[in-house]
Amino acid sequence: MAVESKYEPKDMVFRHLGPTGLKVSILSLGGWLTYGGTQKGNIVKECLQAAWDHGVNTFDTAEVYANGQSELEMGSALKELAWPRDEYVLITKVFFGTGRKEPNTRGLSKKHVVEGLKSSLARLQQPYVDVVFAHRPDYATPMKEIVEGFTQAIRNLNLAYYWGTSEWSAVQIMEATQIAEKFNLIAPIAEQPQYNAFHRERFEVEYAPLFDQFKYGTTIWSPLASGLLTGKYNDGIPEGSRFHNHKDFFDSKIKQLESPEGKAQIEKVKKLTTVAEKLGGSASQLALAWAAKNENVSTVILGATKPEQIVDNCKALSVLAKLTPEYMEEIEQILENKPAGPSKFGRERRIVNEKRRRAKL
Ligand SMILES: NC(=O)c1ccc[n+]([C@@H]2O[C@H](COP(=O)([O-])OP(=O)(O)OC[C@H]3O[C@@H](n4cnc5c(N)ncnc54)[C@H](OP(=O)(O)O)[C@@H]3O)[C@@H](O)[C@H]2O)c1
Repeated sequence: MAVESKYEPKDMVFRHLGPTGLKVSILSLGGWLTYGGTQKGNIVKECLQAAWDHGVNTFDTAEVYANGQSELEMGSALKELAWPRDEYVLITKVFFGTGRKEPNTRGLSKKHVVEGLKSSLARLQQPYVDVVFAHRPDYATPMKEIVEGFTQAIRNLNLAYYWGTSEWSAVQIMEATQIAEKFNLIAPIAEQPQYNAFHRERFEVEYAPLFDQFKYGTTIWSPLASGLLTGKYNDGIPEGSRFHNHKDFFDSKIKQLESPEGKAQIEKVKKLTTVAEKLGGSASQLALAWAAKNENVSTVILGATKPEQIVDNCKALSVLAKLTPEYMEEIEQILENKPAGPSKFGRERRIVNEKRRRAKL
């Protein structure tokens, strides 16, 4: 029977998720602190629909988000929306569990990777996810067992097509990849790291060899630094905002806003807003476009409490199209935080044009 297509890509840009053939929309949507947390019921469906209507095909959640409520809410919304399963990409993450205290209900033992993922799928009302991420490294489980657990979930149980890492060190990712190669297991294909204009070092420096050697993919989180880069915290903490609703969790970030470093960041947001206006956009759209401009970003995961934020954030695509090297340089001058990285002593493999290299010396 022919499947009726419900997906229209609109102006969306797509990238392959790392070395795979899987295409993800450059903007995706996640449910941390929002769906199943502060937002429940119809609003979740409206947010997913708003993203879909703008060409977003990739959605992210995790077992730990609102202790499983995020998967429940997103799963019910997906069921009601009834999009053809081959038209969207679904991601979940295991590691933190759902708040239970029993010894085997968290971590990356073979048991929790498989059982945790099965429980996630039950909450999502899905037979599989496209990608399952190890939400953190597990220092208590041997790496070979971790890789075996994900291989079993994918190869033997068809619970996912790919697996990835989240906030793992480059060394841990390399170790997992080498173990997979040595023992004919499945290697991880992407990392889910924090990456935004105020948080760059690990992504741009530590992970660089992973991008070079494995074409490792990335699904990046907190691209707006939890809202800081929208400018909404320029004059204090607005009622109903994330920092207002989650005061305890963001205590140190809230205190930081009053520190010299925090005030300097707000000044940078104000200057970035001026650049955004020259590009016909807003500070949020520029921050998202700036992250998407990095070719090592496979998808920028949006967070949104309201459909209007998603509509607004998807306009980042038109800012992205106008983000020339000159604008990138202007932004760099404002940020003043480009990570230096280690010296390569003039031995960069990427340099292909000898004439241009000599001209630079
Ligand atoms: N792997 C990990 O460890 C990890 C960690 C964190 C997140 N994630 C994933 O990444 C996703 C995105 O992270 P994030 O939610 O922190 O992203 P973010 O873009 O940094 O922050 C999103 C929040 O900013 C506010 N916002 C968004 N657009 C706005 C706009 N146009 N105007 C004003 N305010 C706006 C909203 O909060 P308010 O309306 O409440 O102010 C929204 O929930 C998560 O949903 C999750 O899927 C993964």
